[in-house]
Amino acid sequence: MQNPTRLYAIADDRQSEAATAMLQISAVSHTYSSTTASTLALDGIDLNIAPGEFVAIVGSSGCGKSTLLRIAAGLMTPSLGAALVDGAVVTGPRPDVGVIFQDAVMLPWFSVLENVVLPIRAAGGNLTKARRHAAELLDRVGLAGFHDAAPSQLSGGMRQRAAIVRALLSKPRLLLMDEPFGALDALTREQMNLELARIAEQSGCAVLLITHSISEAVFLSDRTIVMTPRPGRIAEEIAVPLPRPRAATTMLHPEFSALCHQVRGHFDGKGE
Ligand SMILES: Nc1ncnc2c1ncn2[C@@H]1O[C@H](COP(=O)(O)OP(=O)(O)OP(=O)(O)O)[C@@H](O)[C@H]1O
Ligand SMILES: [Mg+2]
Repeated sequence: MQNPTRLYAIADDRQSEAATAMLQISAVSHTYSSTTASTLALDGIDLNIAPGEFVAIVGSSGCGKSTLLRIAAGLMTPSLGAALVDGAVVTGPRPDVGVIFQDAVMLPWFSVLENVVLPIRAAGGNLTKARRHAAELLDRVGLAGFHDAAPSQLSGGMRQRAAIVRALLSKPRLLLMDEPFGALDALTREQMNLELARIAEQSGCAVLLITHSISEAVFLSDRTIVMTPRPGRIAEEIAVPLPRPRAATTMLHPEFSALCHQVRGHFDGKGE
């Protein structure tokens, strides 16, 4: 039998983790209901992300990852439980939380720069200051010379970089990303991983990244969470103690392949 003192210690740890969490997912379950069917998508998810921490979630298709992210982003209310940002229950999108999806939506009649400052415009913020900051960030992610381009002139990778700049511009303390590089080719994706590692380390914001790529999850995260097939539950949390800053050489670290192997073990023979 487990030592009760140890169990109390674990409960205490969880409570203090929750008290300092940037994002707290607390006992979240979600059922999609229609007149003909009801689908239990998430079942009892508990997850805390500390300020500045990078957490990746991997899981098979349909296990509820996007549902979880939409709940964290305030785009959906869970059937049970709650998402909390900085201790406050999430009731809708927040300006201090950036969200990036697989396909960046850009308005075709605005330039890249104007698309990037759009949320600041919508919030009635200082546009002159925002444009100056956006220009700097666009340069930093390799989009110098594309400030005035139309979104249609950008490649998929360039659009996602612009989307990251757009999310960073409001100085979010939490970035939620749902398969942001899913539509990119393997080489561009690897390059974007290196850039995201650098951006996350420099900005210090907490990140929740959903991905189908095991190596991407391990490369970027401090912790990789594996979900079960639907209904989504947490199957395992794997700490990733690889040194930072992460760089191309991180992938040569013997522990990198050992961790990828550990994550892959959950999917072997299950079609992931
Ligand atoms: N709007 C909806 N109405 C009904 N069922 C839904 C809805 N959205 C998602 N589902 C169901 O909930 C489950 C989880 O969907 P979700 O999109 O969260 O999965 P996912 O893990 O993001 O999948 P993928 O990796 O393919 O993006 C799936 O079985 C899906 O069919
Ligand atoms: Mg999804």
